[in-house]
Amino acid sequence: MSTDHNRNVFDSARVAAAYVEYAGPTDGFLDRGEAAALVAAASGARGTPVLDVGVGSGRTTALLRLISDQYVAIDYAPNMVDAFRRNFPDLQANVADARNLADFGDGEFGLIVFSNNGIDTVTHDERSLVLGEFRRLLTESGVLVFSTLNRNGPSFGETPFQLSRPTQRFRFSPRRAVTAVGRRLLDPAGVVRSVRNWWSARSRIDDRGSWALAPLAAHDFAPFMHFTTISDVRTLVTDAGFTIDEIFADDGSMVPPDAPDSTADNFTIVARK
Ligand SMILES: C[S@@+](CC[C@H](N)C(=O)[O-])C[C@H]1O[C@@H](n2cnc3c(N)ncnc32)[C@H](O)[C@@H]1O
Repeated sequence: MSTDHNRNVFDSARVAAAYVEYAGPTDGFLDRGEAAALVAAASGARGTPVLDVGVGSGRTTALLRLISDQYVAIDYAPNMVDAFRRNFPDLQANVADARNLADFGDGEFGLIVFSNNGIDTVTHDERSLVLGEFRRLLTESGVLVFSTLNRNGPSFGETPFQLSRPTQRFRFSPRRAVTAVGRRLLDPAGVVRSVRNWWSARSRIDDRGSWALAPLAAHDFAPFMHFTTISDVRTLVTDAGFTIDEIFADDGSMVPPDAPDSTADNFTIVARK
């Protein structure tokens, strides 16, 4: 995965424009796992400085400002930061890459959030760089919340031709068939982009069993993402010097500390230094 591929995807006018829609009246939790994780993190982080990493256009901004008034947003895509500034002209937002946060000092934040699987844009080895930077920026009692896609969940191995998502059983429903056909008729260019992006990415798919790199169906299969497993993410977080408080599946359930595996779509991790 080239370093700049995903930055170009998220910095493209089309993707940045799609994210503008996510803020404003449709603000809200991405899924129940995110909601459970932020509720779990809130009491320890209340009133402390918050860093919202990979903010996009600010879907998480109102949610995090309920936890603290001291709020800073960053994103490595300048177009996303512009979109954020249009939505929240009074708040601080910087263009910055989670792999190198040299502009911030040690122990500046009580809570760092990298939501919506943003960490999955970087390579397997770079994930520990990102967590290392987060650890440096957090206070001694600081809390980290981030979400990450599961290799054993339905977002891994999707194709533009599938009748059902991986790990999910195919069940025919006339309503679903009409919606699927209608969506493709409404956006034929999107279908072409999906097939083209998926086709050109398929030879770069790298499946190591405990983690993988593969295209993601969102944004017409343009992002090429990292997918973890429960054992891989536990190792990542603990090797970076964090203690895991909780891991939530996207349905809001807790993944037990001894669970060997999970078919959740993604995990949201709550961890401390
Ligand atoms: C899936 S979008 C989510 C945006 C927003 N957090 C939301 O939930 O709507 C991921 C965001 O993370 C940003 N991003 C990805 N990798 C990043 C990195 N290494 N440093 C900073 N931002 C990054 C992307 O530009 C994009 O805006």
